[in-house]
Amino acid sequence: MAQEANSVPAIIGTAVPRVDGPLKVSGSAKYTSDFHFPGMVYAVPASSTIAKGRITRINSSEAEKMPGVLAILSRENIGKLYRPAPDPNDDVHVDESRPPFEDDVIYYSGQYVALAVAETLEIAQAAATAIQVSYEQEEPDVTEHLELDGTAKPGSTRGDAEKAFQSAPVQIDQTYATPVETHNPIELHASVAIWDGAKFTLYETTQGVTNHRDAMAQVLGVPKENVQVISLFLGSGFGGKLFPWAHSTLAAAAARKLNRPVKLVLSRRSMFTNVGHRPSTQQRIRLSATADGKLVSLQQDYVNHTSILDDFTENCAEATPHLYSVPNLKVTSGLTRRNVGTPTPMRGPGAVPGLFAIESAMDELAIKLNLDPVELRHRNEPEKDESTGLAFSSRHLVECLKVGAEKFGWANRTPGVGSMKQGDLILGWGVASCSWIAGRLDCEANVQLRSDGFVRVACGTQDIGTGTYTILAQIVSTKIGVPLERIQVVIGDSSLPAGPISGGSLVTASVIPAVSAACDQAIATLLFTASKAADSRFRDKTTEELALTSGKIHQKSSAPESGIPYELLLQKSNVREAIGRGKSDMAFLDPSAKPTHSMHSYGAHFLEVTWDPEIARLQVSRVVTVIDAGKIINQRPARNQIEGAIVMGIGMALFEETRYDAQTGHPVNSNLADYCMAVHADTPNIDVTFLDYPDFVLNEFGARGVGEIGLAGIAAAIASAVYHATGVRIRKLPIVIEDLLKV
Ligand code: MOS
Repeated sequence: MAQEANSVPAIIGTAVPRVDGPLKVSGSAKYTSDFHFPGMVYAVPASSTIAKGRITRINSSEAEKMPGVLAILSRENIGKLYRPAPDPNDDVHVDESRPPFEDDVIYYSGQYVALAVAETLEIAQAAATAIQVSYEQEEPDVTEHLELDGTAKPGSTRGDAEKAFQSAPVQIDQTYATPVETHNPIELHASVAIWDGAKFTLYETTQGVTNHRDAMAQVLGVPKENVQVISLFLGSGFGGKLFPWAHSTLAAAAARKLNRPVKLVLSRRSMFTNVGHRPSTQQRIRLSATADGKLVSLQQDYVNHTSILDDFTENCAEATPHLYSVPNLKVTSGLTRRNVGTPTPMRGPGAVPGLFAIESAMDELAIKLNLDPVELRHRNEPEKDESTGLAFSSRHLVECLKVGAEKFGWANRTPGVGSMKQGDLILGWGVASCSWIAGRLDCEANVQLRSDGFVRVACGTQDIGTGTYTILAQIVSTKIGVPLERIQVVIGDSSLPAGPISGGSLVTASVIPAVSAACDQAIATLLFTASKAADSRFRDKTTEELALTSGKIHQKSSAPESGIPYELLLQKSNVREAIGRGKSDMAFLDPSAKPTHSMHSYGAHFLEVTWDPEIARLQVSRVVTVIDAGKIINQRPARNQIEGAIVMGIGMALFEETRYDAQTGHPVNSNLADYCMAVHADTPNIDVTFLDYPDFVLNEFGARGVGEIGLAGIAAAIASAVYHATGVRIRKLPIVIEDLLKV
């Protein structure tokens, strides 16, 4: 354990309602596609109907003649677009490296081939349909089964896993598969682009305004200063909105070409082809153990698909090196190319499919050992991160399992298949551990203490719906000592101090040090100003002395009866504001900077399914989840995140799968009716507990993040519960009724 001595102030850890809640429920929160500007026109892309081949001709004469059509843009006339250049000083990221319309080659179904721009959305849609595109068609490869292309890449390795596996008394050797999953945030991707002759203002659905600006500047070939990206509210993203996609480029290029504001909103169908997906994975897991359940070796050999042009690795071994104690470990990974768009991170990338495999295999091992699966995990709890030799900053997996088992009533479990009944229903119980990275990204922020009594905090990060507005207000409230109602949180704009992407569950941990430092500096500035002014309490003190006492003074100012409200100090000093700037970085996480601790979040899921063999109905009936994610800043959105992730995990285990038609290469279920997800009727009673141990290695409040961890492990817990109920072990998701009818 890291230092536990610091105490954490009161507003941190409470369940205050979201500060942006009233804006959202009243409909006044402006999402990207809510923006309208005078003279705005609508863009609709024409998409390839083939998945492999070449465009031979684009005939847009009919479309161009339609009244209200302003332009049909294609490679001929859209203007110059660039691939972002790798630059060590300018770390921009796009998933699909080729800009739209760069050449005539088609690599996936739905690829944009032209763009219709018109006075109304309906005309633009009609015009896009009227564009005639001829192709030279080839047979696409969208094969579901994955075979490695080329040689496997070595990953984390220790000991001699091959040899240890051969000689160990108990072995598991199984292959697990997860399908393509598509992010389906309710808010469609959208861009509203404005070009004023020199500068782009881009309203975007992005999880990263700063990266989006930097990337678009490169793609459009203009300096960063000439691009401003705004994303005030997001209807979620799940990773699909982390990095810019081609439609942003098209909207901006069309605005430049036509000198009119352009709105482009994706169709749900395009959401399945043009803005990423979680790639399919196939993982061979070999586990071996002693007869009393001590792991001897762990091997994970995985392959995932990627697109033709870009390499995307779904890091299935994200949690593998540190999850359990095992002397011999070996990971390999590989890619295979398909005629699909480029994959992208989806909630808990890597760890989510990875832990489906690892945790399923652990359950299979427990059965083979005739050992309780919770006990198997207890017997393999590591004392340190065995992949690096580093101490864990804060790890409480054992306690997660113990608390979860207690709350769930795990002690009443009888291990025999189908041995637990509730009326006509068979009950299945399953357990799985989960883990997700903890860390920090670069972040800058500024804080203004204003004489009107309001504090403004600004940071170029954004809120994808997880609660970032509220968390920032809580941090500032704690540091400055003013109530939440007097804090103005300004985010979602690339012109603000550069902030982190809303990704990796890293925002909370990243903003705390920067915002906190900005608060400290604002107070120091205020006190310095006051010391120069007439206030006798400060006149005789040096700046250093004042800076040192600032903590006490700002804490006092929160109590109305004592201390000095900061706005009074400003008024006495005859200034309107005091500004502080803060910065934090990820340098201490960089392997070359020698990290001091192994930092991860952990958790345990206990889960019950009911199986009705008479009518072949499977339902998840109960979930108890215990999460160790550091100090929870706000219990309410944190609980929402874990609950939502569990529901998503039920979808992953039982429903979600994007299926491609072998001939056309197009997803056959590219709509919300046919792409099944877990809905309310599939959602059981969910009991979430946070252990709430602060992890002070990351920041002064000890907070990590909770956006993703809840999804990891759920599918394995369900597969294990299904086995317990039915005796059928499903190693390929989703679990479908047909699999269980074979019983
Ligand atoms: Mo998350 S997949 O990092 O948005």
